[in-house]
Amino acid sequence: MRNVAVLGSTGSIGTQTLEIARLERDRINIVSLTAHSNVQLLVKQAREFRPTCVSITTESLRDSLKIELNGTGVEVLSAGDGLIDAATAPGVDTVVCAVVGSAGVRATMAAVNAGHRIALANKESLVVAGELIIPLARQSGAEIIPVDSEHSAIFQCLVGEDAGSIDHLVLTASGGPFRGRAADSFHTITREEALAHPTWDMGDKITIDSATLMNKGLEVIEAFWLFNLPVNQIRVVVHPQSIIHSMVAFKDGSIKAQLGMPDMKLPIQYALSFPDRWNQAHSTVDWTELSALTFEKPDLDAFPCLRLAYEAISERGFAPAVLNASNEQAVTLFLENEIGFSMIPELVERVLSDSGGEPSSSTTITLDSLSEMDSWARRRTKELCGVRDH
Ligand SMILES: NC(=O)c1ccc[n+]([C@@H]2O[C@H](COP(=O)([O-])OP(=O)(O)OC[C@H]3O[C@@H](n4cnc5c(N)ncnc54)[C@H](OP(=O)(O)O)[C@@H]3O)[C@@H](O)[C@H]2O)c1
Repeated sequence: MRNVAVLGSTGSIGTQTLEIARLERDRINIVSLTAHSNVQLLVKQAREFRPTCVSITTESLRDSLKIELNGTGVEVLSAGDGLIDAATAPGVDTVVCAVVGSAGVRATMAAVNAGHRIALANKESLVVAGELIIPLARQSGAEIIPVDSEHSAIFQCLVGEDAGSIDHLVLTASGGPFRGRAADSFHTITREEALAHPTWDMGDKITIDSATLMNKGLEVIEAFWLFNLPVNQIRVVVHPQSIIHSMVAFKDGSIKAQLGMPDMKLPIQYALSFPDRWNQAHSTVDWTELSALTFEKPDLDAFPCLRLAYEAISERGFAPAVLNASNEQAVTLFLENEIGFSMIPELVERVLSDSGGEPSSSTTITLDSLSEMDSWARRRTKELCGVRDH
């Protein structure tokens, strides 16, 4: 039996995790759930799964959550450290980290420190704090099993293989909704167009990241930390059908790939079931319906975010955290219709270049210095497009 904390239970990955838990009641016991703003859905989930505790990270919503759950026996944790408390609640042995953005970093660290299994969807945790999380996992014995479909694919390809026999990794990318579109028309892209992903149904932030290819850039950084390979051994290829989820090329010339329909329930379930495979029939490929699997080079001129991510992880230090924070802020501004689509990479590039002169008070990477750089990068991103800090 896995005793599971679901951080971000109201989001796309969180709700799909609970769909699996509903089908696997003999294998999955839900111990804690967290949300940020969606009280109604969190209450519904708490009534169904009866966790021991829940948390809502928006302080002003905690009272209404308490009223709604009065008499159920479900404890409502404090808003401040609620994510961390949910990740380390008594009895938890597995944490599905499905919060969006760098808000997930401290809870991921806490879960790693506790030596839990982490089913990691929140790639931003590794992008920002891979330097801290990976050594801590080695010390604590925590298992980090990726939920991102690309990293799950690579993880699955590597079962039974020696890490020394890898030549390179190939992350596949759908190319997003603007693959092939003339870059000089990107400034006209609307929020609605950018949110219409051709193959995956996901939360808003990752959907915009997929449209700019920043998502693939973040995944390159995530792969760097998860699989301990130099950046030049992590390649990206555009594969619009999203059937091959990623590949590993070995030194003898052999290539292993993992294939399946674009359905996140499979990698979520695998992160919970590993090393076993559970007998849930998720949608599978109908080969007679597939006309072709195609591949092309990513267009780094049209989609500079991927190049920026490669540069940031090659530079190391605070650069990946700055890239991530500036991108999160720019995506928020785009979703609020404050800036155009093509401003996202422009802002991230400017903020990265300005960050050289803005070291945090410490040059050592710690959670506090990372958080200082995160705040600076968000402020600078807003300043550059004339948006006032409230
Ligand atoms: N969706 C996918 O198919 C997919 C695939 C691969 C990887 N991922 C990764 O998985 C993570 C989650 O993605 P998603 O698509 O599931 O996102 P999502 O649908 O936007 O859900 C995000 C979850 O995090 C909570 N949340 C938002 N802001 C928060 C904050 N400041 N503090 C604490 N919790 C917060 C939300 O709560 P409320 O709903 O209450 O606001 C929600 O439960 C991301 O890192 C993403 O890159 C997602």
